Amino acid sequence: MKIQKVTPENRPKVYALLQRAFPNSNYETLLVQKFHENNRPIHEWVCIHTNKVIAYIAFSNAYNGKQLCGLHLAPMAVAPDFQKQGIGSELLRFALRQEAIKSQPLFVLGEPAYYARFGFEPCSQPICPFDQGNTHFLSMHNSSNASFEVGYEAGFKSAALPPGKQGKKRRPR
Ligand SMILES: CC(C)(COP(=O)(O)OP(=O)(O)OC[C@H]1O[C@@H](n2cnc3c(N)ncnc32)[C@H](O)[C@@H]1OP(=O)(O)O)[C@@H](O)C(=O)NCCC(=O)NCCS
Repeated sequence: MKIQKVTPENRPKVYALLQRAFPNSNYETLLVQKFHENNRPIHEWVCIHTNKVIAYIAFSNAYNGKQLCGLHLAPMAVAPDFQKQGIGSELLRFALRQEAIKSQPLFVLGEPAYYARFGFEPCSQPICPFDQGNTHFLSMHNSSNASFEVGYEAGFKSAALPPGKQGKKRRPR
């Protein structure tokens, strides 16, 4: 298994992996397609095994207003046949060692028991717009004590819209 950056050639394999890993939702697939279509500045890696993409991780910008304030980890996925074999952990630990990632405050909206293994802790500031109670909103390297609602790439909202409305006016929350 090798870990490498995502190339334009393996993007379709990433979309197929996301669809398999999130079988009841196409949100994650649409989100990553939007990142790519709109040329957003994301950091993303895949695990390749026998020429197949078996795991994927992405980080996109987090904002305080228009200012960058860190990175959001999302989405992360391992192909169902390869889950619970340590691959997700290996990919995340690899990403956390990378220069572009290790120097930044990191945020994730996820299962606290899983992400705590890697150093993520419950985050009280900033506030997550998708989880007002912040119960699943976690951070690491975050020393912010300012009260603000953390911003996400526009794709996080537009990927949630019905197909006819994607790319049009965004729904206020
Ligand atoms: C979550 C996911 C990325 C983990 O990757 P993985 O390769 O299966 O995980 P690892 O093998 O590295 O780690 C497995 C360990 O994490 C635990 N774990 C996995 N998902 C968990 C969850 N949602 N909550 C708590 N623990 C979890 C497993 O129980 C296992 O524990 P153990 O080591 O004590 O046996 C993968 O299962 C997946 O793609 N799931 C579907 C998509 C998803 O939910 N992505 C995350 C949200 S964006």
